[in-house]
Amino acid sequence: MVPPLDAVTVVHNAFRRDLTEIDQAVYKVARHGGDLSPLIDRLLYFSDILDRHEKGEERAVFPEVDRVAPLLAPLFVDDHREMSEGLGNVAGAPDELAATRALAILHAHVRIHLANEDTYIYPVLRDRIDLDEQATIVGQLWGRSFPPDEVLPQYMNWLFGLVNQEDQATITTVWKQLMTEKVFGVCTPLIQDAVTTDDWSELTRRVPGLAESI
Ligand SMILES: [Fe+2]
Repeated sequence: MVPPLDAVTVVHNAFRRDLTEIDQAVYKVARHGGDLSPLIDRLLYFSDILDRHEKGEERAVFPEVDRVAPLLAPLFVDDHREMSEGLGNVAGAPDELAATRALAILHAHVRIHLANEDTYIYPVLRDRIDLDEQATIVGQLWGRSFPPDEVLPQYMNWLFGLVNQEDQATITTVWKQLMTEKVFGVCTPLIQDAVTTDDWSELTRRVPGLAESI
């Protein structure tokens, strides 16, 4: 069984890549001119996904962290609040220069936060709780953070477009392990639409039974 918590790392990787790309693109606009509004729209989408993810972590993951490693989680909840503020500062920036500055600060904060979670929070949980308990936590995290059906295609495009083939296989495998056949059957065509033809053939090679669930 692939450890269910590995799916969280995949989503963290998507956050890192998305924000890096947004940061670079906003800097380009500030330096050379151009339209900031599509990038602000992209940031608002990032913000929506991040907000759901953080709320899910606070409800489903951090109580378990409190149980196995007390005193660790509150630091991360404080980070979540500050990152939300940072996102608001970028979206509400009065001009390109202010947006670039706010985004550079936010980008650094998000990267450090995710690195700390990947280094301290998730390894502790992987080490101290078994795979069944991990599955319960990840199930609850999805219950809180998975987008509603009507916007699921956009989420699949976002996630699978931002991660490499290994991450694509990890999250698909964890979904296949934990979702009911019916729910996974809703996700698989959306995954196929979200990835390139090459990525799909690699994914079907890495995830046995995937091709049959289309
Ligand atoms: Fe977090």
